[in-house]
Amino acid sequence: MQYPLEYDTFNFGVDMNPREYLDANKQKRLDDLFDFLRIPSVSAKSENKKDVQACAEWLSKQLNGIGIESKIMPTGGHPVVYGEKIVSPDNLTILYYGHYDVQPPEPLELWKTTPFEPLIEDGYIIARGATDDKGQLWTHVKALEAYLATGTELPVNVKLLMEGEEESGSENLERFIKDNAEMLKADIVVVSDSGQFGKDKPAVTYGLRGLAFVEVKITGPDRDLHSGSFGGSIANPINILGKIIGALHDENGKITIDGFYDDVKPLTNWEREQFAALPFNKDEYLAKTGSVGLFGDTDYTVLEQIWGRPTLDVNGITGGYQGEGAKTIIPSLATCKITMRLVADQDPMDICNKIEKHIKNICPDYVKCEVTKHGGARGVVVPTEGPWLEAAGEAIKSGFGIKPVFVKEGGSIPVVGTFKEVLGIDTLLLGWGQADDNAHSPNERFALKDFERGCYSALALIDEMSKVKV
Ligand code: BES
Ligand code: MN
Ligand code: MN
Repeated sequence: MQYPLEYDTFNFGVDMNPREYLDANKQKRLDDLFDFLRIPSVSAKSENKKDVQACAEWLSKQLNGIGIESKIMPTGGHPVVYGEKIVSPDNLTILYYGHYDVQPPEPLELWKTTPFEPLIEDGYIIARGATDDKGQLWTHVKALEAYLATGTELPVNVKLLMEGEEESGSENLERFIKDNAEMLKADIVVVSDSGQFGKDKPAVTYGLRGLAFVEVKITGPDRDLHSGSFGGSIANPINILGKIIGALHDENGKITIDGFYDDVKPLTNWEREQFAALPFNKDEYLAKTGSVGLFGDTDYTVLEQIWGRPTLDVNGITGGYQGEGAKTIIPSLATCKITMRLVADQDPMDICNKIEKHIKNICPDYVKCEVTKHGGARGVVVPTEGPWLEAAGEAIKSGFGIKPVFVKEGGSIPVVGTFKEVLGIDTLLLGWGQADDNAHSPNERFALKDFERGCYSALALIDEMSKVKV
């Protein structure tokens, strides 16, 4: 298919059914997504605060435009866009969740395009947010539009909760959900913010890892010192931090923090068999990640490592002089950020406390050591059977022509646990993305084909879900 397609006027959907409407509005669907992608809604950076707000306003306007009454609701941070269309008290209610914020685009020099000027190349939409999560959440908005624009009665009630802080940890969303529990009441949550298992291998995700986040600051002398005059007598905080980081794993990749694995349940045989039954090719995996070799806890397969085991990663490290040439100093400071992926049953604050204790224990007393604990999100496991799953399976089959496989994912969507804990609602995780869509990386992309198949699956999902008996 060649894009842009030609279309003279927007097709208003008179005398069409929703499916025909999707068929007739391919270009418009994409044009609207491009407008969405043009807004640099980077939640992490204060310089983009206005853009995040503008994105919320744009989104809310879009929802209102298709007949979903919507408003922008403040939180302690970036706002939530909430919309709903209640058709009948007898209908089931679907709560759609997605996030309109995106990751920072840096490093810019590694992009082949400009991150907020979307374009199509070789069948891919390329832009920051293309797959995570604007492109994916857009499939549901467009499916709803297909109903509303054609005057087809929605067989379900719909509520939409679009968040602007997911990429920054959803810090204010739990409070928001608690405060608005009544408004958010629903029978099931639908989220498209994950991936397929591989090319043409659509998937339903039944588990996500959680996250715990700490920052470590080691202070040596109260200012940088001449390393000749003082070196050998005053400790270098970067040397010390390096040692601490090095001691967090053993040579097999196991985490050495006392009690870290206490709440980790062993993988069940059922799960190990499920994972083992999925096709996995080491060389393809290495190629996909651009890596030369595998590393990890050798007691586990790769899928077990990323779906069923916790991790610890240093995300960034700073300290000392990194400018041109040499500078002979004992730096005053060394800092690093550490995140740990958690599996179900590990508690983020408990893990933060354990790493704090561990680091304080091994850090020598001739430097100052501070650990800031940010907490995080629990891992989640959602049901693997039941009528919702069957409905999802049918919907995906309708959009992709293939039945989905069941997978877990290593990433985190903090709010999924909150939906269960606070509202008592299960979540269906239907992802249209691919592991090599470059989420969080330069050249983020979303295959046009996956966007299209996502739209048709989202459309079929509405009808399939309406038939579920609760
Ligand atoms: N869409 C991802 C989560 C995800 C990643 C699901 C891979 C399935 C596979 C989400 O936008 C994300 O990046 N979440 C963050 C959460 C964190 C900031 C608390 C993550 O996983 O790092
Ligand atoms: Mn996401
Ligand atoms: Mn993300």
